Amino acid sequence: MTSFDTTFTGPGTDIPDLDWPNLAFGYLQTDYNIRHTWRDGRWSEGKLTSEPTIPLHISSTCLHYGQECFEGLKAYQTASGDVVLFRVDENASRLRYSCRKILMPEIPEEMFIESVMQVVDANRRFVPPYGTGASLYIRPLVIGSGPILGVRPSEEYTFLVFVTPVGPYFKTGFKPLDFIVEEDIDRAAPLGVGDAKVGGNYAASLRAGVPAKKKGYADVIYLDAREKKYIDESGPANFFAITKEGQYITPDSPSILLSITNKSLITLAGEKGLNPQRRRVAIDEIVDFTEAGCCGTAAVITPIGSITWKDKKIVYAKDGKPGPHCTELYNALTAIQVGDAADPHGWVRTIPG
Ligand SMILES: Cc1ncc(COP(=O)(O)O)c(C=O)c1O
Repeated sequence: MTSFDTTFTGPGTDIPDLDWPNLAFGYLQTDYNIRHTWRDGRWSEGKLTSEPTIPLHISSTCLHYGQECFEGLKAYQTASGDVVLFRVDENASRLRYSCRKILMPEIPEEMFIESVMQVVDANRRFVPPYGTGASLYIRPLVIGSGPILGVRPSEEYTFLVFVTPVGPYFKTGFKPLDFIVEEDIDRAAPLGVGDAKVGGNYAASLRAGVPAKKKGYADVIYLDAREKKYIDESGPANFFAITKEGQYITPDSPSILLSITNKSLITLAGEKGLNPQRRRVAIDEIVDFTEAGCCGTAAVITPIGSITWKDKKIVYAKDGKPGPHCTELYNALTAIQVGDAADPHGWVRTIPG
């Protein structure tokens, strides 16, 4: 163990005294993470370890040229005590897409799912209890870990998966929050890597997100980088809105991450008669929406209370409460995720105990 880590209990020791219903979205040490190495054209078997640091060559491509991508998904405890994953195959597929985009070897679906299951199973005691609203956040990561100096792909890679128990990303949970439209900073370019889950997109978003939070906003809403006319997404989540006609709409853009939560909400919105549509969403349409929200694994559904754009503030949650469609979709999604509702689409996978 490294000396700076103060939260670690270690396998076989008592779990820290965690206040499950009030967990932050932060890193807490758990018992195990799992690692694979890519060398000579193949991935090694996964190795469980309790070590939270990685030995890394100082000339690794992840450090210098951002050859890095990751995923984020959650494990939940159901009422009957099972531990389940939500749409893990979708995360496996998106990680392969991200790897391809920055010339890293793909993680085969079976290896991805197996490693995720193994690491969750090894940290079962850190899965927050059913009904607490918390979950076990799972962070798969692929990095170029070989030493290269010129700008070219690494010859060695590390795939690792760690987990940590979390509460909601926006600490108020399912409550409307205020967002501001960012016009002067782009997160990603249309022909770039905005649709891949690579670390550089998040580094690029910091100089917009940090000042917005200092001003009291939950986060920013980015516009398309080419025309500055259409909504892209928020810093950590996709954007959706409900129109006056009661339609669920969400931006179609080449520079946003294809959210698995949003994809699921589109299915649920269809079932609820909201006629969901992915299309370009002009920023000046915001005055006409009846509800708006952000969605993602971490954010779940975070209703948007207001959007500030230029000198206007468009308020959706006049009484401070989430709108009816956001509430209906939130309830439907979370009920499936924790096993309270039927799972007609086969989204949930139980981790054998
Ligand atoms: C930039 C960005 N957009 C959208 C999302 C939502 O994607 P998902 O629903 O797959 O978690 C995320 C991550 O959660 C994200 O980081």
